[in-house]
Amino acid sequence: MLAARWPAARVTGLDTSPEMLQRAGGAESGVAWVQGDIADWDPGEPAGLVFANASLHWVDDHDALFPALAEALAPGGVLAVQMPRNFDEPSHRVLGEVAERPRWADRVGHRAGWRPVDPPDAYFGRLAPRCATVDLWETVYYQVLHGEDAAAEWVKGAAARPFLDDLGDDAGAFFAEYAAALRPHYPPGPDGSTLFPFRRLFAIATR
Ligand SMILES: C[S@@+](CC[C@H](N)C(=O)[O-])C[C@H]1O[C@@H](n2cnc3c(N)ncnc32)[C@H](O)[C@@H]1O
Repeated sequence: MLAARWPAARVTGLDTSPEMLQRAGGAESGVAWVQGDIADWDPGEPAGLVFANASLHWVDDHDALFPALAEALAPGGVLAVQMPRNFDEPSHRVLGEVAERPRWADRVGHRAGWRPVDPPDAYFGRLAPRCATVDLWETVYYQVLHGEDAAAEWVKGAAARPFLDDLGDDAGAFFAEYAAALRPHYPPGPDGSTLFPFRRLFAIATR
């Protein structure tokens, strides 16, 4: 979409995952796909736009990352970021609580309390000294999910992934405990669907 919106621009698509890059599209998309880590990415020349959707929460040390991304911009360039910030909700709290149970603590207990995204004012502090404008906002999306243990199944593909990867053959047993513990927090409605509120933080900063 970005390449179509700015056909004259040189657009680079970055991700650590080869599978994700393959899914994103081939050379015909007009994008140069690069496998790499955002934490040490160098655009080579000042960027007109740095756009990061649902990815920066996987990168540690936002005190270093956000100033570096702002400084990668050309004058008038824009940093546009969306990150999940649902870490204090039952979906994520319960994940940590199950990880701290005696059966799991030695392998995934250290992952409890994972809060990779700070409150909005922390991002203002990182961006405002380097940018002419900083817009921040949060939106809670009331996602309508279907199926059994719909909230747990949704988290399985996101925040739960590192826990499940660490546990290998025991991932199924851990997930079953997590789904059972989460059930009372997200009961299905009369039509069988589950409303799953999910908070996301947005930042748009202009250099
Ligand atoms: C929820 S997906 C979002 C993918 C894509 N940005 C989108 O909007 O559809 C999160 C992505 O972040 C990637 N990722 C995680 N850590 C990363 C890092 N340090 N550098 C670059 N990409 C990373 C993952 O491989 C994954 O594809």
